[in-house]
Amino acid sequence: MSSSPSDPFSTGRPIDHVGVAVDDLDAASAPYRALGLAPLADEVVEGQGVHVRAFQAGDSLIELLAAARPDSPIARFLERRGPGLHHVAFRSQDLDTDIAALQAAGARFVDPTPRPGRAGTRAVFLHPSWGEGVLIELVEHV
Ligand code: CO
Repeated sequence: MSSSPSDPFSTGRPIDHVGVAVDDLDAASAPYRALGLAPLADEVVEGQGVHVRAFQAGDSLIELLAAARPDSPIARFLERRGPGLHHVAFRSQDLDTDIAALQAAGARFVDPTPRPGRAGTRAVFLHPSWGEGVLIELVEHV
């Protein structure tokens, strides 16, 4: 078995963050503060139309995602389903290689072109139909 960090079938790929769709960052922060997690600085990711508040949880983050504009994907998600788990993000050491490997394996992307994410990251989303109902993100820290 390969242990390459860019091997999409490796067992060692860490979870970078879990994204949670929320109506209000402050109200939604309460449970995480009560759990003893401290928020990092809020950030707006313009390309995704979200306000992000991240809480450090070990080596991973909980990212609360509020709509920054009414036509953003998060706004549509909240309209359809209300607040709750939105996506799981795995870390990529080499996003372009991972994308090529997943495309070769027949994976379906929301959009295979990497976009800017929080904190200077690059990210792509795999389609929930490919993720068995889960929106999966790959994120590369550059
Ligand atoms: Co994310």
